[in-house]
Amino acid sequence: MKRPEYGIDAPGVIRNLLICCIIAILLPVFYPVITIGGINIYTFGFIYTGITCGLTGLWMLLYSVYGKLKHRDRMLNYINWRGDEKVLDIGTGRGLLAIGAAKRLTTGRSYGIDIWKAEDLTKNKLANTLSNVVAEGVNDKIEIVNEDACDMSFSDNAFDVVLSNLCLHNISKAADRKKACSEVYRVMKKGGTGIISDFIHIKEYRKNFEELGMQTEIKPASFPTTFPPLKILVIKKKF
Ligand SMILES: C[S@@+](CC[C@H](N)C(=O)[O-])C[C@H]1O[C@@H](n2cnc3c(N)ncnc32)[C@H](O)[C@@H]1O
Repeated sequence: MKRPEYGIDAPGVIRNLLICCIIAILLPVFYPVITIGGINIYTFGFIYTGITCGLTGLWMLLYSVYGKLKHRDRMLNYINWRGDEKVLDIGTGRGLLAIGAAKRLTTGRSYGIDIWKAEDLTKNKLANTLSNVVAEGVNDKIEIVNEDACDMSFSDNAFDVVLSNLCLHNISKAADRKKACSEVYRVMKKGGTGIISDFIHIKEYRKNFEELGMQTEIKPASFPTTFPPLKILVIKKKF
């Protein structure tokens, strides 16, 4: 049976950081001095820029290869699972949280939604998510659906638990991120819990959810397991 693979996040960013690293380290080797308009630029200092870019790229890679499974467990551990929950993972990618949640269910059901943007995750395709579902043996407890976070077709008050990791920042306009937050609120049952994790905009999401009357709490990022450091926003829809 195939081993599950949850992909490398932001592969273009990692690639560019590693290219900058190589160029910045090799530049002083081949061109120790560059002359522009009669001014000599000594390139030795570029080595530090190269090292910083290289370490940043490698750290991001390490998160995708090792850290993301630990981060998934940390997020899921904020829920007191009964086993019968209806769970939604928004921006599931290759199924990381939807599958992790399905493993904690008995009679419940887990739904993963995504629009599978290639630039956000390597090999980001519905077929690869379904292959992970089979590899993890949770086919009978999960549904993977093509849906946009800003405009979901689920009915109101449908889910006990709503999860999302590293998805909402990919929505470029603040107004659209606000729409996605309203959708999270709409589809969540009264008394339900949301666990939203991201590396930016966490305070913006918190404000959006508080305006909707939800209880919120920000948990600090787990460093160095996640890079960039991922904060976790725990939200509750009041009865
Ligand atoms: C960095 S990946 C993270 C995937 C997964 N949550 C994980 O942690 O491995 C971000 C995911 O969000 C998805 N995404 C981006 N914008 C979305 C939107 N408007 N609606 C649904 N999914 C979206 C991308 O296609 C991608 O799969």
